[in-house]
Amino acid sequence: MAKLWSGRFDGDTDALVDELNASIGFDKRLYKEDIAGSIAHAKMLAEREIIPQSDLELIIPALLAICGDIESGAFEFRQSDEDIHMAIEAELTRRVGNAGKRLHTARSRNDQVALDFRLYLKNEIGAILGQLCRLLDTLCTVAQDNLDAVMPAYTHLQRAQPSTLAHYMMAYANMLRRDVTRLEDCRERMDLSPLGSGALAGTTYPIDREATARELGFEGVTENSLDGVSDRDYAIELLAALSILMTHLSRFSEEIILWCSWEFKFIELSDRYSTGSSIMPQKKNPDVAELVRGKTGRVYGSLFALLTVMKALPLAYNKDMQEDKEQVFDAIDTVKKCLPVFGAMLATMTVRRDNMRRAAAEGFINATDCADYLVKKGLPFRDAYTITGGLVSLCAAENLTLETLELARYREKSELFAADVYDAISLETCLSERRTPGGPAPAEVARQIESVREFLEARQSS
Ligand code: ARG
Repeated sequence: MAKLWSGRFDGDTDALVDELNASIGFDKRLYKEDIAGSIAHAKMLAEREIIPQSDLELIIPALLAICGDIESGAFEFRQSDEDIHMAIEAELTRRVGNAGKRLHTARSRNDQVALDFRLYLKNEIGAILGQLCRLLDTLCTVAQDNLDAVMPAYTHLQRAQPSTLAHYMMAYANMLRRDVTRLEDCRERMDLSPLGSGALAGTTYPIDREATARELGFEGVTENSLDGVSDRDYAIELLAALSILMTHLSRFSEEIILWCSWEFKFIELSDRYSTGSSIMPQKKNPDVAELVRGKTGRVYGSLFALLTVMKALPLAYNKDMQEDKEQVFDAIDTVKKCLPVFGAMLATMTVRRDNMRRAAAEGFINATDCADYLVKKGLPFRDAYTITGGLVSLCAAENLTLETLELARYREKSELFAADVYDAISLETCLSERRTPGGPAPAEVARQIESVREFLEARQSS
């Protein structure tokens, strides 16, 4: 079949070139945006009397019918059509003849593809934001249920200071809340229509870029036609935001994997969200968390692929840029697959408070509080630190904890110790006293939950 651009050519392209060149296999998912863009463009052309009104009356219903056929599976995609833009235009022309041939007046595939991609990504960001907000809501619920589930928090993976599962959940909630705003920022920046940039130098026709932008729901139009067709920052920025989001999910996954190991046993995953081993009957594996951690590499890969594709391209459009779509589509699909499963895994896990508490009691995580006790009695912190260090090493040698060490032994190290030390270093006190903003005290974490809930409500009502 003759190509839309065959006018200048004498011979056919090699079949292997067709195969390499064709993007229809993956860019067909832009069909809805392509059709919406064409309808807006056609309306504007008719409004500006660049095409007759009678053409518009043929074009719109035919494009809508094509859309219906694509959705029902009746539309036949051919590799010879190269990409979704040519496939739809060729079919339109088959259906409405000359009116179809006039649709591409004052437009290029370069501004067309940039338009379609922006429209598509804006929409997908909305879908990801919805999933992300649901995950945040799950984190708030898990936190609410575990405000006093004391556990050790770690540095260097060594037990460090007291925290709670709620405090941990809200740490991740804060990361994900930033991801929400990062995606919103990215969507806001991409919310400009490149349509009317033409091939790269605009057009001599009296088009109305503002009208098509408005019709398609954009905030405004891009400022420079060369940039309008060459810019893929918005896709790179989205991949960067998704990469950061996946970093957060990956770190979280790592905690989950550790926590459900026999060594920790802080949580147990529901059977619905774990898998077994083909040979070891005792195994219950955290595959969901491992896959999320693994797929993070895949999303980073997309970011680096697109950065690399773009890094040496002169202005304006170059065919290299066709490589943008598969990377971005794959990253979006990956993130959309991970988010809901991750949330469901968290919502259905069983928290083993007993084990968390035991780990908290055994790890000298109240040593800072013991030192602070001496400070409150007037000792400089550094001296208090040294005395407490001595107590910890004594306990470790004799298999004791600060709670079980006798008062007499305390007083051998410092006369400032009295019977109230036990209350000061109890896990309950250590926790409830850490009520500075951001801390793990249950009342303070309840405030953190409230703050995230308000953030979510503001998005639901907007
Ligand atoms: N399929 C192409 C892409 O995805 C559309 C733009 C084609 N433009 C061109 N000048 N060949 O980038």
